[in-house]
Amino acid sequence: MTDVELIDTILRVKKDKNALILAHYYQDESIQLCADFVGDSYGLSIKAMNSNADIIVFAGVHFMAETAKILNPTKKIVVPDLETGCSLAASCEYDRFKKMKEMHPNHVVVTYINCSAEIKSLSDVICTSSNAEKIINSIPENREILFAPDKNLGKYLEKKTGRRMLLWDGVCIVHESFSFNKLVEIINENPGIKIVAHPESNADVLELATFIGSTTEMINFVVDSPDDKFIIATEIGVIHDLKKKAPHKLLIPAPAYEENSCACSECAYMKVNTLKKLYDCLLNESPVIDVTPELIESARWPIDKMIKITENEI
Ligand code: 13P
Ligand code: SF4
Repeated sequence: MTDVELIDTILRVKKDKNALILAHYYQDESIQLCADFVGDSYGLSIKAMNSNADIIVFAGVHFMAETAKILNPTKKIVVPDLETGCSLAASCEYDRFKKMKEMHPNHVVVTYINCSAEIKSLSDVICTSSNAEKIINSIPENREILFAPDKNLGKYLEKKTGRRMLLWDGVCIVHESFSFNKLVEIINENPGIKIVAHPESNADVLELATFIGSTTEMINFVVDSPDDKFIIATEIGVIHDLKKKAPHKLLIPAPAYEENSCACSECAYMKVNTLKKLYDCLLNESPVIDVTPELIESARWPIDKMIKITENEI
């Protein structure tokens, strides 16, 4: 089948099965075209939690689909591929993290959503890139904070909130790779161009940015801005949505340094998913995301706490 035929078939089968397809902005354009909702980590979590579809097809990476299962445990959640990792989640192994927490028993443990359910179960509160500042500011000033696993996001939050935190040493291999020197070259070649950046980026890249936020916030900023030239410092997938919403604007993906395997801004984990795998998983309702009831119970409350703080319920 061609991609166009596959997309048509996916849309038909989705309707027949009363399925909801959720996709992250970093997914391939063809996958985004099939989705009922394309969003950032927080938006996708809320959509999954509130869904009453018969089945949720989650096109993102593993920790996202696992979070969806924790938030909507009775729902069947399937993914195009079970092997979609994340360098941040991989950096934060259970035993090492547990030891770190035990060494700092009085610290409030704030964990970025890019981690496993086991790590979430050791956390006091979860955050995403769209609510992290609010979550940190909700913690009493006299409490010390252990923040994991993204040290770049952690450093950015330290600067924004004025809080010192104990930081886990994890990075996103995509955002870590943006080249400061190449960005400066693009700025010099395009006077007036603005940079929008994801807070997983290095501090020197963030220094250059006019706006820093989650993928959804970056898209909204570019669309609403009176400016018409932007460097987009996040994974290249957001460009698909941006081109639709701001077709007349010049959008340049932030380049990675030469030594980076492809010198591009693609997340190889996200790109493990393909349109064909999306079709197969919808058709076969497999592979399924499985989380034990015990783990769901222990990982759920720090996520609920994040949602309550974000929605001003506490
Ligand atoms: P957001 O979806 O919160 O913008 O995070 C980006 C990311 O890297 C997800 O893995
Ligand atoms: Fe993980 Fe970075 Fe890929 Fe997001 S872009 S899934 S943080 S490796």
